[in-house]
Amino acid sequence: MKIAFAKVGRPKKGAIVVSVAEGGKLSPTATAIDGESGGLIAKAMAGSRFTGKAHQTLTVFTSAGRVLLYGVGDPAKFDLKWAETAGGGIYAALAGSGEKEVTIVMESGDERRAARAAHLALGAELRSYRFDKYRTTLKDDDKPTLEKLTVMVDGHAEAKKLYDVEAAIAEGVAFTRDLVSEPPNVLFPESFAQRCVELKELGVAVEVLGEKEMTKLGMGALLGVGQGSRRESKLVVMRWNGGAKSDQPVAFVGKGVCFDTGGISIKPAGGMEDMKFDMGGAGVVSGLMRALAGRKAKANVIGVIGLVENMPDGNALRPSDILTTMSGQTIEVINTDAEGRLVLADALWYTQDKFKPAFMIDLATLTGAMMVSLGEETCGYFSNDDKLSDALKAAGDAVDEAMWRMPLGDAYNKQMDSDVADMKNAGPRWGGAITAACFLERFVNKTPWIHMDIAGVAWSRKDRSTTPKGASGFAVRALDRLVRDYVEKT
Ligand code: BES
Ligand code: MN
Ligand code: ZN
Repeated sequence: MKIAFAKVGRPKKGAIVVSVAEGGKLSPTATAIDGESGGLIAKAMAGSRFTGKAHQTLTVFTSAGRVLLYGVGDPAKFDLKWAETAGGGIYAALAGSGEKEVTIVMESGDERRAARAAHLALGAELRSYRFDKYRTTLKDDDKPTLEKLTVMVDGHAEAKKLYDVEAAIAEGVAFTRDLVSEPPNVLFPESFAQRCVELKELGVAVEVLGEKEMTKLGMGALLGVGQGSRRESKLVVMRWNGGAKSDQPVAFVGKGVCFDTGGISIKPAGGMEDMKFDMGGAGVVSGLMRALAGRKAKANVIGVIGLVENMPDGNALRPSDILTTMSGQTIEVINTDAEGRLVLADALWYTQDKFKPAFMIDLATLTGAMMVSLGEETCGYFSNDDKLSDALKAAGDAVDEAMWRMPLGDAYNKQMDSDVADMKNAGPRWGGAITAACFLERFVNKTPWIHMDIAGVAWSRKDRSTTPKGASGFAVRALDRLVRDYVEKT
């Protein structure tokens, strides 16, 4: 969708969106159109339940064309998150209406209006994402008609400048959504790595390690997961050097299981197709790198993703196999379906060993247990560092990506001890997200660290205000915000 900003005036074509505060007070533009159309707007409001409550909408056809009334509710609550929700709501209300163009006329005049305008546009852009490249018989009347969104606001040049930054982040989110949406016959370790290589155009340095290089590094756990697959495992290292040479980097590490059958501990058939999104952590890291490069973040950021496919095969891992990791620690494989932690064990160790980052954040669709804990609304995370933990929570709050800290601790950690190796890869069922995090902590070597288990939030089974149903890109925005507020500002 094309997005533009203009000074306040009367839109010449397309639908017009005007805001209405709770109680039904019309904006000057709405009042003018109402007057020209013989009071049609006032009549429509009187004859409907529309009162200007937050996010209510009402469509009225006037002599000026289609007018969408959008409820602001209490204008004091009209903050940036509110603006994003409204932008998404306006897009959803008009996407398939037949209108090609829409203009939102923002007439409220306080000093945050430019930022609000930018975030209205961002909300609409995020909501307009679609993944329909494989739907060859999709009819025109099932496709959105909306092509252009203009936001009219006083200070439109400033709004445009602010939006340009947000647009780079929206591109990062769309990149993640594309990766997560692709089927595993198209997106496997090598083709995923290739899409990362394309980030070179934005100035990201990209290095791809294959099985030979990883064997040399001793990554027995990551390689163990991939050994049952016909596809070669890959480790992709992306670097954005936007900071000063002397700035210590920060690192993001992603689980990239391009398809998770469970391996020999095979999953049941029902719902197994969902496991194409088991590369969601790697997808977020890649989209984040794209966002940071796109907005030229002033920070040195490393993105490392471990790409494998977990398949049952004559050469696959067996339960009871013992793997030696790059760290030297050994792992008894209890369940080949607990593969994500094996991938991350080597990816995390490699990252801290090679880059000595100021902090390291991993993302993974790691456990069904996390979905049992927090459902699909909130991302659970674990941390060994209170300050970093608080910063992530704040970043998530700022962009409407809810985060909830979960506990670590010795009592959980010791449940991962093995009788025959240094640890086992699967513990008891209860507390499964926590023991998985404890397992990962054994590979961070005291680096300030966060583990985000995005199993419940990587995919949305319903439309949300700024996320159409499907791959969500959850965490790209929060982590971009964390880099802005916690890394670039300090
Ligand atoms: N990728 C799955 C976790 C998952 C399941 C994510 C459902 C999203 C939806 C992971 O590899 C897995 O299979 N975990 C097991 C671990 C268990 C065997 C210890 C699980 O959660 O059941
Ligand atoms: Mn699994
Ligand atoms: Zn998995």
